[in-house]
Amino acid sequence: MNRIEFIAELTKGYDVVLDIGSDHGLVLKYAFDKGYIKKGMASDINPNPLKAAQKTLTGYPVEFYLSNGFESIDKTFDLAIITGMGPHLISEILINRNNPNETYLLGPNQKVYILREFLMQEGFEIIDEYVVYDGFYYCFLKVKKGRMQLTDAEKYIGPKLKTKKEAIPYYEHMVTHYENLIPQLPTKLRKNNIEILNYFKETLNQLKNA
Ligand SMILES: C[S@@+](CC[C@H](N)C(=O)[O-])C[C@H]1O[C@@H](n2cnc3c(N)ncnc32)[C@H](O)[C@@H]1O
Repeated sequence: MNRIEFIAELTKGYDVVLDIGSDHGLVLKYAFDKGYIKKGMASDINPNPLKAAQKTLTGYPVEFYLSNGFESIDKTFDLAIITGMGPHLISEILINRNNPNETYLLGPNQKVYILREFLMQEGFEIIDEYVVYDGFYYCFLKVKKGRMQLTDAEKYIGPKLKTKKEAIPYYEHMVTHYENLIPQLPTKLRKNNIEILNYFKETLNQLKNA
């Protein structure tokens, strides 16, 4: 399944869905076509992507917003999607959200551990995690306001993902990635990266033996 379809699948069970940084608008289109959602909001900070979403979503029950993050969103929603951005931008968009009824689906392009650290510090709880391969491994976090404590290992491997057998290929990929990377690093950076490699190796072994 490709990344966009995978995100759309994760809207199942949510009636009103806001897509922040909707760009092409394809996530909402798939979600409507599959009958998962009833209403949509597509928002983007840039006019051209918003126009693209308007074109993709012509005839669907969608409201469009030119908005920096949540700034101009004046309606309630059940799920907000923030995907295809770096972990710092996702954190900036999410930081002041304080509504316990909202769920957020976050899909950082890279460095998921940075986002997990932010969520722990800023009073968010990871309620589920997913991974899909679409030329690259993409992780997704489903999140609500709440409290959680993550170990250093969990920031890298994911507190929910570490229990999922379907994540085995992702963990295998991460083990290979760190095994290739470490010999190329300056000596002072190796120790930390060997620790991270061991987090992935231990999780992989636990999942394979479960
Ligand atoms: C790489 S695209 C990702 C598109 C889609 N969400 C996905 O996962 O395929 C990032 C989009 O986010 C928009 N964007 C960047 N910063 C934003 C912000 N602060 N608020 C809303 N949209 C933003 C960009 O204009 C762009 O259309």
